[in-house]
Amino acid sequence: MKSVWEEAVEIGERKSLEGNLDVDVAVIGAGMAGILTAFALKCQGKNVVVLEADRIGSGQTGKTTAKITAQHGLIYHKMIRRYGVEKASVYARANRVAIDAFEWIVKERKIDCHFKRVPAYLYSTTDDRKLKKEAEAAEVLGIRAFFTRETELPFEVKGAVCFQDQAQFHPLLFVKEIAKELTIYEKTKVLSVRGHKIETEGGTVTAEHIVFATHYPITNLPGFYFLRQHQERSYVLAVSGVKRPEGIYYGIDKKGISFRSTEEALLLGGGGHRTGENKKGGAYEELVKAAEQYFPQYEEKARWSAQDCMPHDGIPFIGKYSVFRPYWYVATGFQKWGMTSSMLSAIIICDRICGRDNPYERLFKPQRFHFFASLELLLKDVGKSVKGLAKGFFHLPFKTLDSLPKGHGGIIRIGFRRFACYKDEHGNVHRILARCPHMGCELEWNPDELSWDCPCHGSRYDVDGKLLDCPAQKEKKFSVT
Ligand SMILES: Cc1cc2nc3c(=O)[nH]c(=O)nc-3n(C[C@H](O)[C@H](O)[C@H](O)COP(=O)(O)OP(=O)(O)OC[C@H]3O[C@@H](n4cnc5c(N)ncnc54)[C@H](O)[C@@H]3O)c2cc1C
Ligand code: FES
Repeated sequence: MKSVWEEAVEIGERKSLEGNLDVDVAVIGAGMAGILTAFALKCQGKNVVVLEADRIGSGQTGKTTAKITAQHGLIYHKMIRRYGVEKASVYARANRVAIDAFEWIVKERKIDCHFKRVPAYLYSTTDDRKLKKEAEAAEVLGIRAFFTRETELPFEVKGAVCFQDQAQFHPLLFVKEIAKELTIYEKTKVLSVRGHKIETEGGTVTAEHIVFATHYPITNLPGFYFLRQHQERSYVLAVSGVKRPEGIYYGIDKKGISFRSTEEALLLGGGGHRTGENKKGGAYEELVKAAEQYFPQYEEKARWSAQDCMPHDGIPFIGKYSVFRPYWYVATGFQKWGMTSSMLSAIIICDRICGRDNPYERLFKPQRFHFFASLELLLKDVGKSVKGLAKGFFHLPFKTLDSLPKGHGGIIRIGFRRFACYKDEHGNVHRILARCPHMGCELEWNPDELSWDCPCHGSRYDVDGKLLDCPAQKEKKFSVT
C-alpha cells in the first residue's frame, strides 16, 4: 500500500547500470541514508555513484512519518543511567546538529519540501513519572524541553515532555531534489561485494570506498549485524477532515499512538511489533478505532506500514563496517528515527572518507560492544532465532490446504516439505517454501499485510515469493495450485 508521500510525488526514472565503473565511492541503497551520504560526498568533490535495487526512496524512506527530531522516545533518562551524561549529551547534540543540517540544506538549495520547525511531544495518558524523569534528563543535557499537561491532542494526557524547535518535512520531495545532483543507477541490485568490487547484473563497480546504506546490511560476514539488531514493524493511517495539531506527538504507553500533520492529512502511527510476530493481525484496526474515537468525522486517505532495525544497545551503527574491511562503511540500526540518523550517517561517513575526525563518530562506532546494555535483547534475539530455526523440525503444522480459509495464510506440510501457503479470494493456493533464505528460519504469516515475515531478522516476502524487505536478498520460487 502506498504512503501519502508516494501517492504525491513522482521521482523520474534513472537507467540501470550497464558496463563497468571505477569510482571514489559507491553507495549501495538510495534511501534517505544513501542519498544524503552520496550528497555529502559529492559536495566534497568525490566521484560517487549510488546503486539502487529498486527505485529512489522506494524502501522505508518512502513510508516513514518523517519527523526530524532528537526526541527518540523515552531515551535520555535511560542513556544517562546506562552510559553517563557525557555520552547521552553527545547523542543529543549529534541529533540537534542533524536537524540543523536539514534546515541548512533546505534553505541553501531552496527546496520546497514543507520543512517546518515544530515542537515534539512525548505523552502518556496513564503515568507521568517517566515523563518527568525524561524532562529532568533533558534539562541535564541542555535540551530545550519542559514537562507539561497541555497539548493539542483531542484527549486528556497525564503528562507530556515537549522538546522545542524540532522539525518535519515531506521526505520524498526532499529526496527528489537532492537526488537530482547525483549519479544514481536504479533497478541495479548489488549481488555481491568482494573487497573493492561490487557485482551487479549489469556490470562491476570498483570503488575505493563502499557505503552499505541498504537499511539492513546485506552481508552477514564480516560485521555480524544479524546478531546485533532485530526489526520492528509499525503501521500508519492517514486521515483528512480533522483538526490537525501543530506539534508532533509520540505516545509512550503500550498501545500509544503517534501523530503528525502533513499539509493535507493527519498521520496516526502505532500497532508496532517485532517483524514476524503478528499472527493475529489487527494493527490497522487499532488505528481505525483511535481515529473513530478521537476524530469521528475523519475520512481515510491512506494506510501503510514499514519497519526499522532496532540495535540491542539503543544506538545506531554508523561508520566502519568492520575492522577487516576498513574501506567499507555502514549506516543501520536507526530504531524508527532514521531522518536524523541518516543525516548523521552522511556527516560521519563523509568526514571519515575525507580523512577528518568527527566529534560524534565514537559514540556511533559499529565496533563498540556494550555488553550489559545489549545482553537482554541479545539473549531474546538468540532465543527467537533458535525458535525460528527449530520450528521446521519440532513444530507440527496443524493446517491442511482444505482447512485454510480464503484470504488466509498458514504453514502446511506437503510431502516432506513445509510450505507457506496463502489461499486467495478465488480459492487459488499460492505456496512458497516456508524457510527464509537468509539463515533458514521459518516464515510467519502477517494478516495485516498479506505477507510472509521472518521473525529472526525481519526479511519479508509477498505471497508469490517476491522479496519485500532485506536482509534476505533472494526471491523465493513459488507455485500456484
Ligand atoms: C512506521 C515508521 C515510521 C517512521 N517514522 C519516522 C519518523 O517520523 N522520523 C524518523 O526519523 N524516522 C522514522 N522512521 C524510520 C525511518 O523511516 C528509517 O529509519 C529510514 O527511512 C531508513 O532509511 P534508509 O535509507 O536506511 O533505508 P531505506 O529507505 O529502506 O533504503 C535502503 C535502500 O537500499 C536498497 N537496497 C537493499 N538491498 C540492496 C541491494 N542488494 N542492492 C542495491 N540496493 C539495495 C533498498 O531498495 C532501499 O531503497 C520510521 C520508521 C517506520 C517503520
Ligand atoms: S531474516 Fe534472517 S533468517 Fe530470515
